[in-house]
Parts: sequence; structure tokens; C-alpha cells
Amino acid sequence: MAIIASNFKTNHTRKTTKEFIQTVNSYLEENKIENEVIVFPTSSSLDNFNTVCNLTIGAQNAYAVNSGSFTGEIGTQQLDEFNIKTILIGHSERRHILGETQEEIALKYEFYKDLGYKIVYCIGEPLEVKQEGLQATLEYIYEQFVGIDTNYENLILAYEPVWAIGTGVTATNDDIKNVHNAIKEKINKPLLYGGSVKVENVAEICAIPNVDGALIGTASWIKEDFIQIIENTKDL
Ligand code: 13P
Repeated sequence: MAIIASNFKTNHTRKTTKEFIQTVNSYLEENKIENEVIVFPTSSSLDNFNTVCNLTIGAQNAYAVNSGSFTGEIGTQQLDEFNIKTILIGHSERRHILGETQEEIALKYEFYKDLGYKIVYCIGEPLEVKQEGLQATLEYIYEQFVGIDTNYENLILAYEPVWAIGTGVTATNDDIKNVHNAIKEKINKPLLYGGSVKVENVAEICAIPNVDGALIGTASWIKEDFIQIIENTKDL
């Protein structure tokens, strides 16, 4: 059963997030869809959503703290209010734009692991590394596992090549196959692909061996498209 996740990034309001989640929830319920679906809204749009058991709401980010003085951040006190127990860690936008280091990411991972959160942990190489070939790509990716307990039972991995994120350039099936096979050989955890996944290519990508689902940004933000994405992968 494919795992299909939507990362809202900095999109949607409280109102449109609620509409999105309610519509997706009704679709899953009415059609008895069994995919595991995860939606990561902005922190300002988190709420107590009444969802079916295979639709989970997660946080795109939170600080490794319950509460405290970390201006602009949220902690588990804020997540607990909405019973959020799922978090995205290591997304490339946080690594490259917000400057999170591997050390900070590992600390965050450990904190949320200790609390039993489901962690969707992202890895992926920038273009200049990809251009050096598969070996360089894998070495770069393995560095992103430093300090990360990959045996953690509640871990989902997401391979998201930086050059494919938000660019419209999806990795080729061969690129995906090569990297996923190599990661799976080392770490036997569900492994999603992310990076310009679209309504049109999601089924093909999710059908590649060792691809357990997709983490989608842009193409998932219109609810009808996200539902179509789930529809296209429901029998995989
Ligand atoms: P796009 O689907 O917009 O390329 O984003 C992928 C992503 O970063 C999901 O986390």
C-alpha cells in the first residue's frame, strides 16, 4: 500500500487547510481507500481535525523542546494541543535555506524519536553532487544519516533530490531505482520519493521496486489533484 504525503510548505490558510483535509478525509472514507496518507500543513493551520485512521496530520517542523524561549518556533506543548505525533525532519529547504546542520537535525530526530513520533526523514543531494555520479550521490546521502538511528521503528524515509524539488524536473526512473535500491540495502524502512511528483507520473514512480510512496509538494496543493494522486496509487 503506497504512502502518499503532502507537504504544504508555506501554502494554504487555516480555512483552506481545513477544507482540504475535510475533502480528502471524505474521499478516503467514502471510497474505502487504504493508502496511508499524511498531510503536513503550516504550523499556523494545525488543528484538531477529525480524520479517518489512515489520514494523519503532521508538523513540517518543530523545535526539540516542549516549551521555552525559542522565538518563532513551536514545541511539543503546541503539537500536543492537536495530538500531532508525526513530524517531517531534515527537509532540504530546512537544511539549505534555513541552515539546519546535520548536528541540529540529529538532535531534533533524537528528541522526537524519544517521544515516539512518526518521523518522515528526508535525504537528498544537490545538483553538483548528482553530476559527480551515483557513488558521490550515495556518499552525500549517507552523511545525512550521521547521528540518525535508522533502526527506529516509527521511521519513514523520503529521498528528495534537491535539484528535483519544485523544479518540474522529476528524477528519471533509473535515478530513483539506483538510489532507492542502494538505500534499501542498508536501511530497511519505508522509502518515499519526492521531487516534482505529479498527477501524471505518481503511479509510475510508486510502482518502481523499493519505492513505497511519494512525498509531494506543488502538485498536491490543489485538493482535487491530491485526491487524483491518491486515486492513481490506490491499487499499488
Ligand atoms: P515538489 O513536489 O514541489 O517538487 O516538492 C517536493 C518536496 O519538497 C516535498 O517535501
